[in-house]
Amino acid sequence: METASAAETKDVAAAIAGLARPGDLLLLLGDLGAGKTAFTQGLGNALGVTQPITSPTFTLAQQYEGTDMRVHHLDVYRLEQLDEVSDLGLPELLDDDAVVVIEWGDAIVPMLPNNYLEIRITFGDGDDDRVLVLEPVGSGWSARRSALETAIAELSSPPSTQPGDAGDAQC
Ligand SMILES: Nc1ncnc2c1ncn2[C@@H]1O[C@H](COP(=O)(O)OP(=O)(O)OP(=O)(O)O)[C@@H](O)[C@H]1O
Ligand SMILES: [Mg+2]
Repeated sequence: METASAAETKDVAAAIAGLARPGDLLLLLGDLGAGKTAFTQGLGNALGVTQPITSPTFTLAQQYEGTDMRVHHLDVYRLEQLDEVSDLGLPELLDDDAVVVIEWGDAIVPMLPNNYLEIRITFGDGDDDRVLVLEPVGSGWSARRSALETAIAELSSPPSTQPGDAGDAQC
């Protein structure tokens, strides 16, 4: 799907947050400035995180407490060796009643469980245009594929008008 602002990307993230369960893994792929952190902010807000979500700078991982769920936010851009992944303690993070979000996750796919939602963000024509492609990998998210499609479709469809709404008024 396409978004035309960071706010729209955050709305997509919020829709996905509505389907997230403890132990879920989300991989965010996309070039520098694509909107991976913006997506994570939208996801976190929707899960009740009030702290500002920023890129983890000195640590590779940052933990946020949401009222609905904890969020572990990892950015493995600076990871120099694949074997450093084991230092992240990913199994523990996934077993922490949290949703785990990894920016630049494509770099470490071989080290990950085969059960995640891949979100690829690419640049569109305009400065603020982005294209988001969602790909469930493994059974966990594949089972939620149609729920995911419905949640995304609801974002882009105009609010439905009920009989009796002002729009139906006869003059
Ligand atoms: N449609 C859009 N979706 C997401 N971000 C957008 C969009 N349009 C503009 N932006 C802007 O693009 C920037 C995206 O920055 P962000 O830090 O989220 O990217 P990133 O993918 O995390 O980059 P990095 O690889 O450096 O971590 C923000 O300044 C955001 O406001
Ligand atoms: Mg980022």
